[in-house]
Amino acid sequence: MTALARDETDTKAARVAAVRETTDALKAVLGRGEVGRRELDDAKALLMRLAEKRELFAAEDFPLPGPDVEKNNALYLLAAENEPALSLYLQVSGSGLDVPPHNHKTWAIIAGIDGIEENRFYERTETGPERSGGQEVGPGSAVAFEPEDLHSIHIHGQDCVLNFHMYGIPLDKLYGREYWHAGSGEWRLFPVQQGIVDRRDG
Ligand SMILES: [Fe+2]
Repeated sequence: MTALARDETDTKAARVAAVRETTDALKAVLGRGEVGRRELDDAKALLMRLAEKRELFAAEDFPLPGPDVEKNNALYLLAAENEPALSLYLQVSGSGLDVPPHNHKTWAIIAGIDGIEENRFYERTETGPERSGGQEVGPGSAVAFEPEDLHSIHIHGQDCVLNFHMYGIPLDKLYGREYWHAGSGEWRLFPVQQGIVDRRDG
């Protein structure tokens, strides 16, 4: 085995071990009972600690789609558990990403690894989402949402932003997520996520 191949194997093994350790800790937190603010805050802290191991989550290991693909972001599955349920993804995004205001129908956490993802928060009103605040999520920060909380995501002026996204339902089985379609002034449903790359093996 070449030195380079050995390095890659070592990184993969270290990544699997770090994700496993974090997942075990997350299961202990999320398995306490109903997932409320306290559980989400504790889970956020665990994901931020995992995100500090930036050498295990380098952009080279989680590439953006090629130039022939229209999407400029990709989702990699790192861990999936049933009891308690959690699905942990690494998202990598290029510049020019705007995801409209939406809910999740389950709890959701975003923790920054590299670069800044702007999150805008909204209240739901009869006439649509109304801006209520926001937070920039980057290294050392995270944000958590309850099932009906609304947010939008914006990434501009950065080549490559990496963060963890974690949900109580797998994104490829998450039906009924509503988003605000500004053009028509109505709530519509996101299709379930496709094209997730399974990287649970490292
Ligand atoms: Fe979201």
